[in-house]
Amino acid sequence: MYGLLLLATVVIQVEDPLLPQSWREQILDLAREEVIVNAPKDFTPLQKLGEEIFFAEEFSGDGSTSCATCHDPGQAFQDGLSHPRGVQKIHRDTPGLWGVDQQRWFGWDGRWDSLWSQALEPIETPEELDSDRLILLRWIDQNPDRRKLFEESFGDFPRLDDLPERARENSEWTAGYQQLPEERRQRLNRAFSDLGRAVAAYEKTLQAPKTDFDRYLQALADENPQEARKYPAEARYGLAIFLDQGRCVFCHNGPAFSDGEFHDTGLISSGSSSRDSGRYGGILDLKRSPFNLLGEYSEERTGAAADRTRRLRRDSKMWGAFRTPGLRGLSRTAPYFHDGSRADLSSVIRFYSRRENARPVHQGAGHHGERLVEPLNLTPDEEAMLVEFLKTL
Ligand code: HEC
Ligand code: HEC
Repeated sequence: MYGLLLLATVVIQVEDPLLPQSWREQILDLAREEVIVNAPKDFTPLQKLGEEIFFAEEFSGDGSTSCATCHDPGQAFQDGLSHPRGVQKIHRDTPGLWGVDQQRWFGWDGRWDSLWSQALEPIETPEELDSDRLILLRWIDQNPDRRKLFEESFGDFPRLDDLPERARENSEWTAGYQQLPEERRQRLNRAFSDLGRAVAAYEKTLQAPKTDFDRYLQALADENPQEARKYPAEARYGLAIFLDQGRCVFCHNGPAFSDGEFHDTGLISSGSSSRDSGRYGGILDLKRSPFNLLGEYSEERTGAAADRTRRLRRDSKMWGAFRTPGLRGLSRTAPYFHDGSRADLSSVIRFYSRRENARPVHQGAGHHGERLVEPLNLTPDEEAMLVEFLKTL
């Protein structure tokens, strides 16, 4: 009954395409700044080098896999698969990369604290590119144009004579690499991390194109009812539910629709995903990585981002918590959730509304207390309006 009354007031408020003043401010917090990124033809040497690495297949283990195999530019930089295939299969859904630079932790479990360090892991894991830092460095060295892009960005290229074929194979260090003098390894690792910085510089240019929702926000900012009316009424109702009854905005907020934090939403995963510890394991991996922001290859060992990493503590309540994904470009990034278990947006909404295939969430986990994820019991019409709204992002 309470829900019905609430909805009745919401309906009256939502009649106005500009929505009530009190909501407008909250909605304008979701606005993106006009991002001006270089067009590919104006890329800096650093961005060009990053772009080449991102799309190159030659240095991968099977010679036919690249970052773009899973992060397909035609699909908002993801692959539409619940268990993506690199050189082998992996059990997490591929996130799209539009606006990825706005995150503060990367990966579903946040096991990377910078975009540049993220880029290094898939190069060497057997499931993804099954390649290696030495193979990649040789691939740069062999081509004068690529080598020049490196030198223009970072200065001297490291010596590559007298090196073993690989540094890592099947997730293990090779004996040949371990025998190299420490200084030599550091020099190679520094160049490897620089290549990560090149990829990150390219990834910063990946931004979702303007959407109906962006145009609606502009109309609200200009208080222009005529423009605002072009935004479908169902989506406007959906937006109201997103802010109000659905409590979605508690976690999905800001221009990327993500608080950048980790929550247990009570999702029940099956198969290999059911043992996924999420943030709990992610913190351990991050602390161990020589390429985290506190490590010797970081250029920002002090500062707010490094402090966040320094302050991290592992806590059993983080078991099964995953990073709130951004929701931009959502209509193109099915399937959904970290295990790719929901094929479409309607099933995502049923998960929240009816707690379909969900377990109760222990109270107090995460930052807001996951009481926020109680059944919403929306009507089928309300569920459909929420979907219409999400599609406009
Ligand atoms: C086999 C498919 C596959 C390949 C190949 C691959 N990725 Fe990914 N990528 C994924 C998956 C799956 C995740 C989620 C990983 C996780 O959370 O554990 C991911 C996560 C990411 C993220 C973090 C996104 C976020 O929202 O936090 C970035 C950035 C990224 N990949 C870039 C790359 C780059 C750069 C390469 C090439 C060097 C690459 N990926 C190769 C599947 C792939
Ligand atoms: C307590 C924080 C929280 C609340 C409240 C919340 N979400 Fe989420 N949302 C998350 C997290 C965390 C995930 C990732 C869960 C996972 O994959 O295990 C997620 C995933 C999603 C996804 C899948 C995105 C993708 O790329 O896979 C969608 C869509 C979504 N939420 C929409 C909503 C809507 C709509 C609401 C309100 C009805 C809502 N969320 C409420 C935290 C929240």
